[in-house]
Amino acid sequence: MRSCATLMSKRRIWPGAVSSRAMLRIEDLHVYYGKAHVLRGISLHVSPGELVAVIGPNGAGKTTLFRTISGLKESHNGTISFQNTPLAKDPAKIVRVGVIHCPEGRHLFSDMTVRENLEMGAFRWDHRDLSGDLERVYTLFPVLKEREHQIARTLSGGEQQMLAIGRALMSRPELLLLDEPTLGLAPIVRKAIADALKQINGHGVTILLAEQNVAFALANAQRVYLLETGQIVKVGTPEELRTDERVQKVYLGRV
Ligand SMILES: Nc1ncnc2c1ncn2[C@@H]1O[C@H](COP(=O)(O)OP(=O)(O)OP(=O)(O)O)[C@@H](O)[C@H]1O
Ligand SMILES: [Mg+2]
Repeated sequence: MRSCATLMSKRRIWPGAVSSRAMLRIEDLHVYYGKAHVLRGISLHVSPGELVAVIGPNGAGKTTLFRTISGLKESHNGTISFQNTPLAKDPAKIVRVGVIHCPEGRHLFSDMTVRENLEMGAFRWDHRDLSGDLERVYTLFPVLKEREHQIARTLSGGEQQMLAIGRALMSRPELLLLDEPTLGLAPIVRKAIADALKQINGHGVTILLAEQNVAFALANAQRVYLLETGQIVKVGTPEELRTDERVQKVYLGRV
């Protein structure tokens, strides 16, 4: 019989990912840009191991929500806790507890190579041997290995998105915040991203995904929040949202 330790070591392919306490809980979150009240009392939670999507149209507040969780948008009212502890309003501390933000628009180090971008992702681990982490990313996205020495800005859009996800994984996330990973990508690349998300999540990384592409979110998430003008207006399983008349009309283009 295989020992529990053996099973755990097999499962912990993305180190740091498995934790019985890992959990994000947001309660009554309000965020403003000047006088504009952009997030209006959001409450949501993500359980350990879940892949949860936040869907909603342009300007609904998805990116603002993610930037607030990761400490980039400083001021807010309401509570955000991670593993039952209030999250510090400090991006560096938030990264250190394992909440890693893969931002909309990728924000790569465009003049650095693929390899250098990946190494930058591991900055929270001082003097660490990165070979195992690099290998895991290259196994997930073999094209990044082929292009290891290519300058990031010369990659295709799909390759850049894979690099952005790979760089986030180098930080060994417990919770991965993934903002619009399929934006502007062709169906075949969306499929590669979907496959990668399944693998990452299958290895125990909890994922919160923001998507305008409702069909992609419903196909890949386990639970979905619908955000409209800064408020959660619906939450449920993909099936519950898929069969909702309004979601069908407004977001899936069915009449
Ligand atoms: N830095 C900023 N200063 C002022 N207003 C902002 C700022 N960033 C976002 N907003 C406003 O906040 C609202 C929510 O924007 P946000 O980018 O969070 O939406 P989103 O759901 O991510 O949209 P998209 O799907 O287009 O990415 C919008 O009305 C936007 O104009
Ligand atoms: Mg956005």
